Amino acid sequence: MKTAIITGASAGLGLEFVAQLEEFFPEIECVWLISRSVDKLASAAKLLKKAEAKIVPLDLCSEADTDKFEALLKEEKPEISLLVNNAGCGYLANIGDTDYKVQTRMVDLNIRALTAITAISVPYIINGGRIINMSSIASFCPNPRMTVYSASKSYVSAFSRGLEEELKPRKISVTAVCSGPLDTEFLDIAGIRGQSKTFDVLPFCNPKNVVSGAYKAARKGHSVHTPRAFFKFYRFVAKIVPQSLMVKFTKT
Ligand SMILES: NC(=O)c1ccc[n+]([C@@H]2O[C@H](COP(=O)([O-])OP(=O)(O)OC[C@H]3O[C@@H](n4cnc5c(N)ncnc54)[C@H](OP(=O)(O)O)[C@@H]3O)[C@@H](O)[C@H]2O)c1
Repeated sequence: MKTAIITGASAGLGLEFVAQLEEFFPEIECVWLISRSVDKLASAAKLLKKAEAKIVPLDLCSEADTDKFEALLKEEKPEISLLVNNAGCGYLANIGDTDYKVQTRMVDLNIRALTAITAISVPYIINGGRIINMSSIASFCPNPRMTVYSASKSYVSAFSRGLEEELKPRKISVTAVCSGPLDTEFLDIAGIRGQSKTFDVLPFCNPKNVVSGAYKAARKGHSVHTPRAFFKFYRFVAKIVPQSLMVKFTKT
């Protein structure tokens, strides 16, 4: 059975990844929906028209739960056509101003869990399959006040590039999606709403367009997808201007 796995499928962009999946990947027969909230995943499952949904409640910050995922794959041996590593979190705060656990949660979810889910899944991904990793414009340059978040997304982008090269012999593509701000629960959880002048002035991305762009980019085997011309330009600037200068202007 051709299978897709979507993490963070219960809210925000994850719901959009579920809703648009069948339009861009009509060959997928089964979709594994992962997050902590069973009820919300059950609602997300209703967005699928033909494909079968499998609800997999996991706390991806827990090693015991990523072990459960590994055991599930060993048992079910799915033919994975598409893996969407979408679950992620961010927090707005200077290092040392909050509980260290608030900062390390970003490392646990954005880095450790994404690495674990990918490493566990790769042996089950079919030749010619696709991986989509949700990165961010924050990956282009460090963002003071979201230092850990931006560093974690730099990891996601660098990890995607290296993995793509490793998986070339199997023709598995890896696409890092570098979205700008999105109006989702992420902003409330991160404590960003009304607290960041940068977010107040940045243009927002539309979740529907981010997901359709991500799916099209994955289909074409693109390494990076950056929605909106404004952020494509930012990516270019961040490549040529020294980070020591950029960082003066990139405070969140
Ligand atoms: N929003 C933005 O401005 C923005 C911009 C650029 C990139 N991104 C990236 O886009 C991705 C999606 O963001 P979003 O805006 O859709 O965020 P969101 O609305 O906060 O949704 C986050 C998703 O991750 C899941 N999740 C959180 N902690 C989890 C855990 N410990 N275990 C399993 N699942 C967990 C949540 O489900 P449960 O709560 O049910 O577990 C939810 O489904 C993230 O990687 C984010 O970094 C966001």
